[in-house]
Amino acid sequence: MTSPIPYDAVEFPASGQELVILDETELPLKEIFLHLTSAEEVYDAIKRLKVRGAPAIGVAAASGLAMCMNRLLTENPEEFEKEFFRVKKLLYSSRPTAVNLMWALDRMEKCYEGLKGGTDLNAVRKGLDAEARNIKDEDIRMCEAIAGHGLTLLKPGCGILTHCNAGHLAVSRYGTALGPIYLAQQMGYAPKVYADETRPLLQGARLTAFELMKAGIDTTLICDNMASLVMRQGRIDAVMVGCDRVAANGDVANKIGTSGLAILAHHYGIPFYVLGPSSTIDENCPTGADIIIEERPAFEVTDMHYCEPRAPKGVKVFNPAFDITPAELVTALVTEKGVFKNSYFTRATRVKYENT
Ligand code: MRU
Repeated sequence: MTSPIPYDAVEFPASGQELVILDETELPLKEIFLHLTSAEEVYDAIKRLKVRGAPAIGVAAASGLAMCMNRLLTENPEEFEKEFFRVKKLLYSSRPTAVNLMWALDRMEKCYEGLKGGTDLNAVRKGLDAEARNIKDEDIRMCEAIAGHGLTLLKPGCGILTHCNAGHLAVSRYGTALGPIYLAQQMGYAPKVYADETRPLLQGARLTAFELMKAGIDTTLICDNMASLVMRQGRIDAVMVGCDRVAANGDVANKIGTSGLAILAHHYGIPFYVLGPSSTIDENCPTGADIIIEERPAFEVTDMHYCEPRAPKGVKVFNPAFDITPAELVTALVTEKGVFKNSYFTRATRVKYENT
C-alpha cells in the first residue's frame, strides 16, 4: 500500500533523543516539522493538536515517554522510576477522550514493570525504546489490515462521506477511515470523497482534503451542514469515519458532528461505517455514557480560523470536541480483525457485560 504523503505524522528517529512531528495546526499552508525533546513539549503538542488523531497521539505519547527516559542521564533506579511516572502522568492528562493515548502509555508501563529490577538502566531504556517502536509498527500493520477489510465495503465509482481526519495524518501511516479509500484509488475504483470541513478546528478542510488531494483522489469539500443534502441527492454510498473510543457495547466516541451524520445516514438508508484499530476499543468502558467528552476553549468557536472575531465578545460558548454515536446506528465496525456488523458486535459484548 502506498502512503499519500512521503513522511509520517510522528517520527521517532533512531537516535531516540527527539520526536519529530509535523505541526498539523499549520496545514495546509505550511509543512513544518517540530523537533520535541521534553515531556512538556510533547504534552503541549498533543494538547494543542499539533499532533492529533487517536492512534497518532498514542504513538506520540509512547515515543515521547521513551525519548524522555533515553535523555535522562541518571544511573539511579529510584530517580529513573520517579521521572518515568511523572512523564507518564503528564502525557496521560494531555487529552481525555481518545483511549489510544492511555492504552499506549499503560503498555509502556507494563513494559517498564517487566524490565525494572536489574542494575543496568540502559537495558531498561533500550526496552522502552523498542516498545515505543513496536507500538508504531503494529499500528501501521493494523491500518493496512483495516484498509483491506474496508475495501470489501466499497464499489467502483462509489461516493463516500467522511468527517474530521481519520487518514494518514491521524495515525502511524495510511489512516483508518481513509485507508480503504487509498486502497480503492490504487485499485482503480476512482472513489469520490465528500469531506466535511469539521467545525470548529477544520480538520476535514485543512487535513483530509490536503491528504486526499495529494493522493489524486476526487475530493469535494462541504460545510458540515451540507451533509443531509448530498445524501439526499444520492451522492453518498457510504459514510466512513474513525473513532476515538469504542465502548464495550459498541457506542462510538468520535469528532463532534459524527453522531448527526449517523442519524442522517440512518434516515437515508446509507451504511455508516466506523473504522479503527482494536487499540481504540475500551472494554473497561461499558457504554458511551461512560466516555469523558473533551471540552475545548471558546475562542476555537468564536475567533480561530476567522480574520476577526465572529461572535459578540463574552457570548457563552459550548465547545465539546467529540460526541457519541449509539451502537445501533453503526452498520459495522471495521478493525484489523475484520468487519463486525452492528448486530454481531453489540450482541457479543452485551452478553459479556450482562454476565458480569
Ligand atoms: O480532535 P482530533 O483532531 O484529534 O479528532 C480526531 C478524530 O476525531 C478522528 O476521527 C479519530 O481520532 C480517529 S483518527 C484515525
